[in-house]
This record gives sequence, C-alpha cells and structure tokens, in this order.
Amino acid sequence: MITERRNLIRTLLGGGFVASLAAFLYPVIRFMNPPSVSEASVNEVPGGKIQDLKPNSGKIVKFGNRPVLLVRVSETEWRAFSAVCTHLNCTVQYQEQRRQIWCACHNGFYDLNGNVVSGPPPKALDEYVARVRGDEVVISRRA
Ligand code: FES
Repeated sequence: MITERRNLIRTLLGGGFVASLAAFLYPVIRFMNPPSVSEASVNEVPGGKIQDLKPNSGKIVKFGNRPVLLVRVSETEWRAFSAVCTHLNCTVQYQEQRRQIWCACHNGFYDLNGNVVSGPPPKALDEYVARVRGDEVVISRRA
C-alpha cells in the first residue's frame, strides 16, 4: 500500500517536471524557429489612400515582414524603396526639408532614386514599384 502511494507520488512529480520543462521549452523553440510567412510570399501590398499622404512626404509600409518607405514626391509621382539602410540595417525615413531619404543612425542620405548622397551607406536602397490604382497606392516588387 505504501509502495503504491510512493509510486503514485513519484509519477505525479515526474509528470509535473516534464510538463514544466515542456512549458519552458516550447516558447523558446517557437521563438528560434519563426513561422515561414516571409517577404518572399508577398508580391504586392496596399500603400493606403492617395489623399492620406500629402505631396513631399513619406511613410513606412509593411511589405511582408520588411519595411518599405513610400514617398509621394508630387501630386502624381510616387516612389517606394526598401526602408532598410544598406549600412547597418536601420530604418530610413523621408526628410521633407531636404527632399531626401535619411538614416538617423549614422546620418546617411539617399536621393529620390535611392542612390547614396552622403554618409556611410555602401550602396543604393532597393527600389519597389509604387503605382496608383483607383484611389489607392499599390506597392509591388520590381520585375
Ligand atoms: S545604419 Fe544607416 S547610416 Fe548607418
């Protein structure tokens, strides 16, 4: 009788330990192996309504899991670039006063073709296609 109780207690404690270990390891493994939804599965994303972005301004749009900088250059001209700086991967932003793309991390500047103007970035930003469809802007990959 006493032996049966000891076995039952050992079994319960052992099960609790295994459950605790699984509860700890599962989130760690999920974190180290993220879901496979990636930029590769996205070909086009909406950039928002035309009237929501005034000329000479920009905003960040998610393209899959990567940020894209959408710039409304003028009433009719739109541009889109990878918002990941080519220096050390900081997120760039549009600077209205200079009409350039700026990386605040090390003061890197790009022009509105994505080319490096000054600072440490070693190469141009990847360009995306931004076009108007109805009353929306759509961003897609370059062919
Ligand atoms: S990370 Fe952009 S200039 Fe250094």
